[in-house]
Amino acid sequence: MDLKLNDPGLLRHQAFVNGEWLDADDQQTLDVINPANGQVITSVARCGTQETRRAISAAEAAQKTWKHYTARQRGDLLRSWFEVMLEHIDDLSRILTAEQGKPLAEAKGEIAYGAGYIEWFAEESKRIYGDTIAAPDSDKRIVCIKQPVGVVACITPWNFPNAMLTRKLAPALAAGCTVVCKPANATPLSAYAIAELARRVGIPDGVINILTGVTAEIGAEMTSNPVVRKLSFTGSTEVGKQLIEQCAATVKRTSMELGGNAPFIVFDDADLDAAVEGAMLSKFRNAGQTCVCTNRLLVQETIYDEFVQRFQKAMAGLTVGDGFAEGVTIGPLIDAGAAQDVRDFIDDAIAKGAIPITDASVTQGLADTFLAPVILTGATPDMRVFSDEIFGPVAPVFSFKDEKEAIELANDTDVGLACYFYTRDIGRIWRVAEGLEYGIVGINEGIISNPMAPFGGVKESGQGREGSRYGLDDYLEIKYMCMGGIDQ
Ligand code: SIN
Repeated sequence: MDLKLNDPGLLRHQAFVNGEWLDADDQQTLDVINPANGQVITSVARCGTQETRRAISAAEAAQKTWKHYTARQRGDLLRSWFEVMLEHIDDLSRILTAEQGKPLAEAKGEIAYGAGYIEWFAEESKRIYGDTIAAPDSDKRIVCIKQPVGVVACITPWNFPNAMLTRKLAPALAAGCTVVCKPANATPLSAYAIAELARRVGIPDGVINILTGVTAEIGAEMTSNPVVRKLSFTGSTEVGKQLIEQCAATVKRTSMELGGNAPFIVFDDADLDAAVEGAMLSKFRNAGQTCVCTNRLLVQETIYDEFVQRFQKAMAGLTVGDGFAEGVTIGPLIDAGAAQDVRDFIDDAIAKGAIPITDASVTQGLADTFLAPVILTGATPDMRVFSDEIFGPVAPVFSFKDEKEAIELANDTDVGLACYFYTRDIGRIWRVAEGLEYGIVGINEGIISNPMAPFGGVKESGQGREGSRYGLDDYLEIKYMCMGGIDQ
């Protein structure tokens, strides 16, 4: 595929280790495919255990000096990196759309969002505070300082190839950690492009290392190597659990941003236009492939038909197609297997009595990675769309009688990342927000992601928070120092 860039130097295909671009030891590569048309964009290094071990050693060596940079020095470098990312937003967006499929406008939004984490943590690096604590004896003093965790390993997903990486890299670097990253093999080019920009602004060699390749080998080295003190992962709950187990042997800290099953509750006193707008945004962003995408619409029975009618009208305004084409709002899913998984969800729901509302003609002539958006009316809790994360443009609509039932249905899941509800009643806002077992609650709002807010879930959606002032804590250790002999 001929990807036209203003700066072709951003399209890298080698691994980035200790400030150098390197092939895999055995020269093996893997193809990066455009999901909209199946074309190979380029091939990247297929690294394994040895290369990962070298990257970890590079990060260990670099950390010895990086941790002594002042907060301002680290912040200034991050700031330059943020600025250069925005300067190259057009190229970065094109790379992202080519490898991930999302519409170009959405890709641009992701680059700005991802860069926003770097800007945020460039500033937060100066706000790492310690404590003094009242001591139990008069000749003692207690002081707590915060220090970087050390070498951090990151594993990031294909749905946000830029922002999920910056959300980990920025706080790690701000805190004084160095990093080894494994982006998804499906979408490594965005990661390599921002590594190139980091190199250009002078982030020292070894502070950021990025490799692609044999996932099991890279993951096993990251989780077993004692030099790595922390693993940060964004991906499925299933893989997250395996990684936690693997990290147990060396007692690594972990941050896990795992799966969701977001309910979107519409009460009968809601502003229905606002609810439809919020549902469209939170359901169809990135073709439904985000962990915070609405998974289940729960609509009060008295307004069910009215809501579905308005939602259907809004859905008709979506345009499915290649992310590079003008006016497209829904791109392909990441691969044909992912699209088939979503079709299986639809078939299961229909077999159990759901009625689909869709226009199959919108995918005519497109690859089998494309799916027409679907509303499933008459959805019931025995369907897989109630219990499992769909990760596609499918909107099952369930009905509920009252507030109590809405909260029960919403909480009837093992995970708890994001949830949404619409109502104009102030008492209900507090009752429902407090009753929902989720880390993130959108109230009369369908878009909740931004660098200033703590992103993360409860239950099997993970542990830790990314973004916000809390985001630094995941990369800092507290050291307690007790000073004695003061009275002598
Ligand atoms: C995710 O899907 O994991 C993240 C989505 C977001 O940052 O909004």
